[in-house]
Amino acid sequence: MSSIFKEGIFQDKRILVTGGGSGIGKNIAQRYLELGAQVMIASRNKEKLQAAQKDLSSFGDCHYGICDIRKEEDIESLTKHITEKMGGLDILVNNAGGQFPSLAEDLSKNGWNAVINNNLNGTWYMTQAMAKAFFIPAKSGCILNIIVNIYRGFPGMIHTGAARAGVDNMTKTLSIEWSKYNINVNAIAPGLIFSTGFQQYPEEIRAGIAKKIPMKRLGTTDEVADLATYLTSSVAVYITGETVYIDGGSRLHGDLYEM
Ligand SMILES: NC(=O)c1ccc[n+]([C@@H]2O[C@H](COP(=O)([O-])OP(=O)(O)OC[C@H]3O[C@@H](n4cnc5c(N)ncnc54)[C@H](OP(=O)(O)O)[C@@H]3O)[C@@H](O)[C@H]2O)c1
Repeated sequence: MSSIFKEGIFQDKRILVTGGGSGIGKNIAQRYLELGAQVMIASRNKEKLQAAQKDLSSFGDCHYGICDIRKEEDIESLTKHITEKMGGLDILVNNAGGQFPSLAEDLSKNGWNAVINNNLNGTWYMTQAMAKAFFIPAKSGCILNIIVNIYRGFPGMIHTGAARAGVDNMTKTLSIEWSKYNINVNAIAPGLIFSTGFQQYPEEIRAGIAKKIPMKRLGTTDEVADLATYLTSSVAVYITGETVYIDGGSRLHGDLYEM
């Protein structure tokens, strides 16, 4: 592990990472475990979660819960499972999500609704449920939303651009409304990160894309995990309502793919 944090800085912290069975979420979960936290990873695919839990258990106390963030009943059982396994929750990382490339004029109503439902509604359902079950009663908590680089819109993926802009705005609103409960709320907006999610995009999108990023490379899941641990740590509690971009400069300059 290479970390700027002292050992055990997340000792006694109970953390939920949605989508923690793969890619960015799995790396974030690993960082927390390495730094002393108990972690629950949650998503839909049991086999993926079991394999990830097996890997992550070598770093610390890792649990898994099956949960589709779009389903109220799943979130309710996850809440119970968190109470049983960890006795409560201190930090929620909303990392679960997904999207697919489509020009706006070709996008079907189903495609639009599916991505809005997952990336915006699902994130909200999870956020409200965890806050009401754990953070508001405890008058303490921390929420981190993983969105995407939407600085100049999201040409080529209008559905997720709109959904993530919703979460970006939610981040600001909740940071104010829930400051009375001592809950801080921030977001990370990654540019292109070399991860399982990125590898699912078609070859014509991935080929040569690194050259179009001002820093001439993709980001790493380690870099996102380091930022996530910083923003949810005890040294960052005065930061709230903020979205931090981690994108090698691509929000400011360059076109990633041909329209
Ligand atoms: N990689 C990038 O370049 C990049 C850039 C910006 C933002 N992001 C965002 O960062 C997050 C992680 O991305 P990644 O690259 O690590 O991709 P990934 O491996 O595909 O991770 C997405 C995770 O979300 C889970 N998930 C999706 N829909 C869900 C649902 N309805 N309920 C519960 N879990 C759900 C998936 O698990 P199950 O299949 O088991 O449900 C999966 O583990 C995503 O939100 C992604 O959009 C990625």
